[in-house]
Amino acid sequence: MALTSLLDTLLDRAIVPGYSRVGFVVRRQWWAADLAPQALAGRTVAVTGANAGLGKATALGAARLGASVRLLCRDPARGRQARDDIVRHCAGAEVEVDECDLSDLKSVRAAASRLRNELPAIHALVHNAGVLPPERTETADGHELAVATHVLGPHLLTAELRPLLAAGTGARVVFVSSGGMYAQRLRIDDPEFLEGDYDGTAAYARTKRMQVVLAELWAERFADAGIAVHSMHPGWARTPGITDALPRFAKVVGPILRTADEGADTAVWLLAAEEAGTTTGLFWHDRRPRPTSYLPFTRHTPDEAEKLWDYCAVNTRL
Ligand SMILES: NC(=O)c1ccc[n+]([C@@H]2O[C@H](COP(=O)([O-])OP(=O)(O)OC[C@H]3O[C@@H](n4cnc5c(N)ncnc54)[C@H](OP(=O)(O)O)[C@@H]3O)[C@@H](O)[C@H]2O)c1
Repeated sequence: MALTSLLDTLLDRAIVPGYSRVGFVVRRQWWAADLAPQALAGRTVAVTGANAGLGKATALGAARLGASVRLLCRDPARGRQARDDIVRHCAGAEVEVDECDLSDLKSVRAAASRLRNELPAIHALVHNAGVLPPERTETADGHELAVATHVLGPHLLTAELRPLLAAGTGARVVFVSSGGMYAQRLRIDDPEFLEGDYDGTAAYARTKRMQVVLAELWAERFADAGIAVHSMHPGWARTPGITDALPRFAKVVGPILRTADEGADTAVWLLAAEEAGTTTGLFWHDRRPRPTSYLPFTRHTPDEAEKLWDYCAVNTRL
């Protein structure tokens, strides 16, 4: 194993240095030449939850590479503010705002339908919208909020945008998961968190595990259409999500948190890098595929993965 590869792996296993800014700064030293300045010219990239944090940074990163960007936001006013910020940082960027609440299946269907009417193709879809609910709440469709936002909404949006993704040569779908998913196994026996006391952090991590498995399942289903599907985790980045939902965590690791741009780096890279178009179904962090499980109890069977697919299909009425 090359020395850099060994160091990269050590950073990953040690968690704190790897997930923090330290990991990003060290690994950046040995990355191959960066992407071409206009690597995404002529390509349309849709990002969910794009008005703040990593979603906004991902949209800006894609715009800087020449992409035309669609910001899928639940609050159009916040979306327009983000669009103005992005254009301020990237003059001439093509940025549009689309209303889409990922936790609301009707809203997801409507947004996808508008995109299908307006666009000939989408070349990349980034499932970024995320939430860490303090208590168990249900959406208008009757689903627990974290599973609705991280799993059911993205599943439906992927399916609804299939024709546009198939039309976009070499299209990619990226699920923004979390390193927190390593602590959880796929719990398809209780996807809606009905058993025991609700723990928002556990629900968050369990749905982040579901996203990684779902990415693998979509990768298999999309292989024939030439659409690559990946998941990734950003490490720990300073965003409203971290400072508002996890203030104590943000305080303790504050000095070593990544910037939003650093956290979004791998998501942006996956949209353009050749390596991410010739592979599919992988889980990435800092531009490198990573194992999806370290602890034996977090491994799932193929049968459990298919049950997740069935759960998504039934509950999005595909
Ligand atoms: N920051 C980190 O260190 C970190 C670490 C691991 C994983 N992640 C993942 O990275 C992603 C982005 O996180 P972040 O830290 O940037 O969080 P954030 O600052 O809280 O931003 C989350 C974004 O998602 C949007 N959103 C939430 N629910 C939505 C819904 N139902 N429909 C549409 N948009 C919705 C929010 O919109 P509003 O402004 O309308 O609320 C906001 O734009 C998440 O999936 C998170 O799990 C982040």
